[in-house]
Amino acid sequence: MKLTLSLLFLSLSLSLVQGLNPKCDIQDHSSTLQVIHVFSPCSPFKPSKPLSFEETILQMQSKDQTRLQFLDSLVAKRSIVPIASGRQIIQSPTYIVRAKIGNPPQTLLLAMDTSNDAAWIPCTACDGCSSTLFAPEKSTTFKNVTCDAPQCKQVPNPSCGVSSCNFNLTYGSSTISSNLVQDTVTLATDPIPGYTFGCVSKTTGTSAPPQGLLGLGRGPLSLLSQTQNLYQSTFSYCLPSFKSLNYSGSLRLGLSAQPKRIKFTPLLKNPRRSSLYYVNLEAIRVGRKVVDIPPTALAFNPSTGAGTIFDSGTVFTRLVAPAYVAVRDEFRRRVGPNLTVTTLGGFDTCYNVPIVVPTITFMFTGMNVTLPEDNILIHSTAGSTTCLAMASAPDNVNSVLNVIANMQQQNHRLLFDVPNSRVGVARELCT
Ligand SMILES: *[C@@H]1O[C@H](CO)[C@@H](O)[C@H](O)[C@H]1NC(C)=O
Ligand SMILES: *[C@@H]1O[C@H](CO)[C@@H](O)[C@H](O)[C@H]1NC(C)=O
Ligand SMILES: *[C@@H]1O[C@H](CO)[C@@H](O)[C@H](O)[C@H]1NC(C)=O
Ligand SMILES: *[C@@H]1O[C@H](CO)[C@@H](O)[C@H](O)[C@H]1NC(C)=O
Ligand SMILES: *[C@@H]1O[C@H](CO)[C@@H](O)[C@H](O)[C@H]1NC(C)=O
Repeated sequence: MKLTLSLLFLSLSLSLVQGLNPKCDIQDHSSTLQVIHVFSPCSPFKPSKPLSFEETILQMQSKDQTRLQFLDSLVAKRSIVPIASGRQIIQSPTYIVRAKIGNPPQTLLLAMDTSNDAAWIPCTACDGCSSTLFAPEKSTTFKNVTCDAPQCKQVPNPSCGVSSCNFNLTYGSSTISSNLVQDTVTLATDPIPGYTFGCVSKTTGTSAPPQGLLGLGRGPLSLLSQTQNLYQSTFSYCLPSFKSLNYSGSLRLGLSAQPKRIKFTPLLKNPRRSSLYYVNLEAIRVGRKVVDIPPTALAFNPSTGAGTIFDSGTVFTRLVAPAYVAVRDEFRRRVGPNLTVTTLGGFDTCYNVPIVVPTITFMFTGMNVTLPEDNILIHSTAGSTTCLAMASAPDNVNSVLNVIANMQQQNHRLLFDVPNSRVGVARELCT
């Protein structure tokens, strides 16, 4: 009886979460979670009316701008970043997974974010939250983290409630108040008891993202740190293309079912930002030509934060200016030096006629990743405009980071093998 009730509750909450689209009701199995794009028909966060190609691009680019400022603020930090800084909550990441929280389980959608450590969940009676909320009072396993707990020392400016560790974050016009709490979080079919996360109780302003956040970074209080015995700090994901929003990808946690045939490059550690996944990008090839990039534009430097990261939350790859200019110029030369180049939003290499493009290869230590056309070009739905889907770091961000973003990762499996300090990439059609 109890089981039936909780199943009923679960399927009800699933239908509510997903707007009754039966196609979206795919159950996650073993340690694999379905990953969907935030604009997917299965996502409650999709725009209420379809956006035009230009609107979509401009919207994604403006979010990227904030994202890059956020990443830049991380690399500039002097010490290990705590559970969250004001900037960390504002991202609107692109890919979401389903998690069940508490006992009986409540289903919430969380954004996947490889450059964050923390998990955030909007909670009951949250003043100003716009999404499905987690109801701690309905969970028998919910606990507040007390002020003297070690986890409370990892949040910024904690203050002590009667039985809780509270903290506030600010971003622009937004303030976000949270309690640090623990409850069972179930990912696919794996229950993780006593998971520590922020329970958001109040937000003001418009900067806070509606969904919760699942931090896949490798710093303290991240999923990896909290599930070391279960998942051995290993996960992989395949992000579906946002051209086909009906497709879903997968997030696989732990050692089992990971690809055997995959190329690896070493992960680099930046003690100033322990959660970012730095790799060594040595060169970039356009077609068969290795383009001329000053070594300092690619070099890893832990003290300035310079180097290259893989990030799931940025949409379009950003290279520091000298690297981008070299790639773009060779790309334009190969496409046709006499063709008229136009701009669209932050993209400076667009064409209004059909084009044939060279491949672009990121040459990492020990691993070349050659991107096919689908990871290089963005096409308008009408097919009349095609742009090179990369850009240089924006002018107002004094960025030293090269960010390999999710458009360039789509339809590849990325395997994060933290114990062996390496990241693998293999082509895979995620549907
Ligand atoms: C947790 O802390 C909040 C805020 O202080 C309080 O309202 C709530 O009753 C506490 N819950 C439990 C289970 O202690
Ligand atoms: C956090 O914000 C709440 C509500 O706005 C306020 O009551 C509380 O004093 C703030 N706490 C801290 C630590 O600033
Ligand atoms: C996605 O699914 C919806 C309804 O299930 C359908 O109308 C639409 O054509 C599909 N789109 C693509 C790109 O397959
Ligand atoms: C580009 O234009 C120049 C001058 O008009 C011409 O000499 C050249 O052959 C053209 N190149 C291509 C690839 O069409
Ligand atoms: C990457 O490609 C270059 C040729 O451009 C080749 O020399 C190099 O050996 C390749 N690296 C790996 C790891 O396959």
